[in-house]
This record gives sequence, structure tokens and C-alpha cells, in this order.
Amino acid sequence: MNKMNCDISAVLFDEHKIQTRIRELGLEISNSYKDSTPVMVGILKGGFIFLADLVRSITIPVEVDFLAISSYGNDANSSGIVKIRKDIDIDLSNRDVIIVEDIVDTGLSLEYIKDYIWQHKPASLKTCVLLDKPDAHKIDVCFEYIGFSIKNEFVVGYGLDFAERYRNLPYIGILKEELYK
Ligand code: IMP
Ligand code: MG
Repeated sequence: MNKMNCDISAVLFDEHKIQTRIRELGLEISNSYKDSTPVMVGILKGGFIFLADLVRSITIPVEVDFLAISSYGNDANSSGIVKIRKDIDIDLSNRDVIIVEDIVDTGLSLEYIKDYIWQHKPASLKTCVLLDKPDAHKIDVCFEYIGFSIKNEFVVGYGLDFAERYRNLPYIGILKEELYK
């Protein structure tokens, strides 16, 4: 019995659903980048499990790097303020780059990350997000690959945290409101 299960009001996507969708995304990316070796840039910390599973579902060569940012304190509301905690190591100039992000809420973090990566002059830049909350967008942000669209609820698990916890839940679930409101 997982001790964290009692903090979850509902399971949105179980392990099987997540893996099935990731296999589809991997196939799509493998087909689109047949003649290239893209650099997959995982956004830490939330994207670490998604990136690990996604790259293993891709059948063309890829390179992996990480960009660590922090946009949230210990609460569940977006500040819109993004800080870079770990920079990218691979030279991205003239490379095909794919950002791998856990979730798009307001869209402010992704917009910042995209602007930042464009400054490195990649040949192309696309984004793969596991979860999207379309009703929460504050700006018009676009991304090419998306796992699932969800309602405007706070979710944890599969890399996503609340106050650094729940990242190790194998599924994605809705956190009970009384734990953060
Ligand atoms: P945005 O800048 O508001 O789009 O926020 C994006 C970042 O906030 C994500 O990369 C997550 O790290 C975090 N975040 C947004 N919504 C959630 C959620 O429901 N659960 C956990 N983290 C979230
Ligand atoms: Mg994130």
C-alpha cells in the first residue's frame, strides 16, 4: 500500500495509460525526425520521468540534455518568474531541438524556455508536453506534441510534485484540495 495514495482524490492516468500514450508520441517523433539526431531537452525537475520513458520509446538516435528551472515556490500558483538553475551543456546551434516538459499551466514557463532556447540558434525547435491545462493558459503558447489535456486541477505524480513530494507516484492523480488550499 502506497502511503501517498490517501492524499489523492482521483487517479487521472494510470501507468498503463501513460505508457500507451508515450509509445504513440515516441512513434510520432521517430517518424518526424528520421533524418536527424534531435537533442531532447528535459525540463527539470518535473520532466525527468517523462523524458526517461519518452526517449526509450524513440527508435532513432537522440541526444539528451537538461535545463533546470524553478517557477514555483512551495505553493500551487504560478509566479510567472522563471529562474535557470542548470544550463544546457550541448551546443544547440543548428540542431533540431525538442523540449520535453511535464505540464503547461499558465504557459509562462514554456514561453520563457522557448525564448531562451531560440537564443542558442537551433535549426528547429519543437515542444513535447505530457499534460496541458488549456483553461489555465494566460498567454497564447504553442507546442507540437501533447500527451493529455486535463481540466484546471492540481495534479501530482509521475515527476510532478507539490512542495517536492509525490514525484515518485507511478500514476498521475489529483491532489486533495485541502492539502494545498
Ligand atoms: P506555468 O508557467 O504556469 O505553465 O507552469 C508550468 C510549471 O508549473 C510546470 O512545469 C510545473 O512544474 C508546474 N505546475 C503547473 N501545474 C502543475 C500541477 O498541476 N501540478 C504540479 N506542477 C504543476
Ligand atoms: Mg516543469
